[in-house]
This record gives sequence, C-alpha cells and structure tokens, in this order.
Amino acid sequence: MTDKLKSEFKINRIKEKVIDLLKNYEGGCNDKEISSFEKWIASREYISDLEKAQKKNEIEKKLDSIVKQLLKTMPSDAILPSENICGPTSGPNSDCDMKHTLHVDEFLYDDDDLEKHFFEKIKYCEDCESNNIKDTEIISHSLSRSKLQYLFNVMLPLDCSNLKILDVGSRIGAVLYGAYFYSNAKTIYGIEMNKELCNVQQEIIKFNKMDDRIYVIHDDVLNQGDIIDTFDIVILNNVFEFFLESNQQIVIWRFLKNNLKKNCLVVTIPSVEETFVSLDIYEEFSNWLKLIPVHQHENGLLLDDDIEADFHDMYLYVIK
Ligand SMILES: C[S@@+](CC[C@H](N)C(=O)[O-])C[C@H]1O[C@@H](n2cnc3c(N)ncnc32)[C@H](O)[C@@H]1O
Repeated sequence: MTDKLKSEFKINRIKEKVIDLLKNYEGGCNDKEISSFEKWIASREYISDLEKAQKKNEIEKKLDSIVKQLLKTMPSDAILPSENICGPTSGPNSDCDMKHTLHVDEFLYDDDDLEKHFFEKIKYCEDCESNNIKDTEIISHSLSRSKLQYLFNVMLPLDCSNLKILDVGSRIGAVLYGAYFYSNAKTIYGIEMNKELCNVQQEIIKFNKMDDRIYVIHDDVLNQGDIIDTFDIVILNNVFEFFLESNQQIVIWRFLKNNLKKNCLVVTIPSVEETFVSLDIYEEFSNWLKLIPVHQHENGLLLDDDIEADFHDMYLYVIK
C-alpha cells in the first residue's frame, strides 16, 4: 500500500471515530453541540491542544524509559539497604502498622502495575483461621507520574524560565525528571541525605544528558543554609515523616521557616496544617505560609473528577 493510500485510510478511520463520538457520546450530540464543535474545528483552537497532547506523549515516553532504567537497579519496594525507614509517630500515617505496610514506589509502578505485580500482597489474613481479611496499607515514597503532571501543568506557573526549583529529599529523582521535561525551569536541584540514592539519580541524569539543568546535592538539607534562600519553588513531598523522628522534623521546619525567601512557592503533600498540628507546632507556624490557587487553572479543567481526586493531598502555598 502506498503512503498516500495509508494516509487516506488513517484519515477515514479518524473521521469514523469522530462521527461515532458525535453520535454516541453521552447519548449523542444535538444540533447546537455539533455546531459548537464545528466552530471549534474551524477556529483551529484545537491545534494548540493537539500540540500539548503530542508533547505530553513524548514526555511520557521519556519518563517510561527512565523508569525502565531505574527498575534495573532498584529493588521492587524501591528501598535501599542503607535506608532506615521508620513508622511515623505523628501525622496522617502514624496509624501505619509497618508489618502490614507495602512500600510501592508510585513513580515506578502505576495502578495497573500495582494490580499486576503486587496483587497477592495487597490483602492479608489477620489470624489464618478466619476470613478476617484486611487491606494492606500502601505507601509510596515517590511522586506518581500523574501527580508530576498535575504539579507542573496545573499547580506551578507556566513560565519558570527564571526560577530555581528545589526538591527536598529527592530520592530516586522523580520530581527532578518531571521538572526537567514538564517545565522550563532554569535550574532544578535535589537535596538527598542518602548517598546511594544520590548515586542512582546521578546515573540517570548523566545517562539521559539532563546535567545541563539538574543538580543533585548529597547532604542533610539542614546543612544547606547557604543556598536554601536562593530557591523560588520548593517541593516537600511527605519528606520527613518516614525518615526522621518528630523532634528532628520540628528542627527542619524551623530551619525552612528561617531560611526560605519571601514569595517562594512551596508545594507540600500533605497540607502543612496537617503536619504542624500533628507535630504540635501549629501556632508557631500559623503566619508563615498562605494557601494560594493553582497557576494553570485552565489545564485543571480538562481533568475529570475521578482523576482530580488523586491530587486532593497536594497543596500550594506562598511564603508571606
Ligand atoms: C518521601 S521521599 C520524597 C521523594 C521525592 N521528593 C519525590 O517526591 O519523589 C523523602 C526523601 O527525603 C529524604 N530525606 C529525609 N530527610 C532529609 C533531610 N533532612 N535532608 C535530605 N534528605 C532527606 C529521604 O532519604 C527520602 O529519600
């Protein structure tokens, strides 16, 4: 078949799909809806949406390839022997029974992978004799790929070309790679206290030639007072609760309060209110941050309610 013929077939298939949608989607379109669709095509507004969707596909392919590289080196729970993960004693996860908690890295495994690879492990029998079956708690220590999209395509400003992003506790680098592909941020820093995890990130960054904009610092963030006030955007994804005692977490929050600059954007998971109440420091921090709306609200409108529910624990603040 010639290329011309192939292309004609393809276009005919697309037309069939459009007709099918107009005919069947939610009971089919009425004349007014069809006319509104016609106007949208004629205005060529869809071209920018199409370009966005094509770019999104390309980024997803690049992230898939990074995930494949990481899966070759990381254990299935994505926790390295040198790590000391502790059950939190405060905060939303303080009821986590570590014996029945499954650590699944959401950057490496999406919901379908979870079903495929961990199905037998997501239930446990409490006493073997009975059918008293309980759901296993599932914890991810990385941001999922869908949350990365929401972070950079909805929450943060579109133009980050003059901004410096910091991911505190950058782990296997999910936020760094997301920032590299989804944003035009000038520089992207990760600070990670675990040396082995820093090596994992460095390898990926070097192999994929991302070292023009991504930098990883192996250190406790507490020692980075010299640079911490240079960042415009700081990401804090569940960063301390599984890794530090409550008193150490309070020291770091005080350090961040004293050092992050005014107007810096801060993204937290979960909300700082929840964290500060659980650490009993709410009053001390009550005047530090202001909750603000997402920057690219129009992109959020494309999400359906089910997908949006996935982002309910992501919060955007500005430092007052
Ligand atoms: C939940 S993971 C965050 C992963 C990553 N930011 C993401 O969203 O994909 C928390 C990471 O923070 C690191 N961490 C905890 N306390 C730290 C500190 N004081 N300084 C640097 N890294 C820290 C831990 O080693 C762990 O890898």
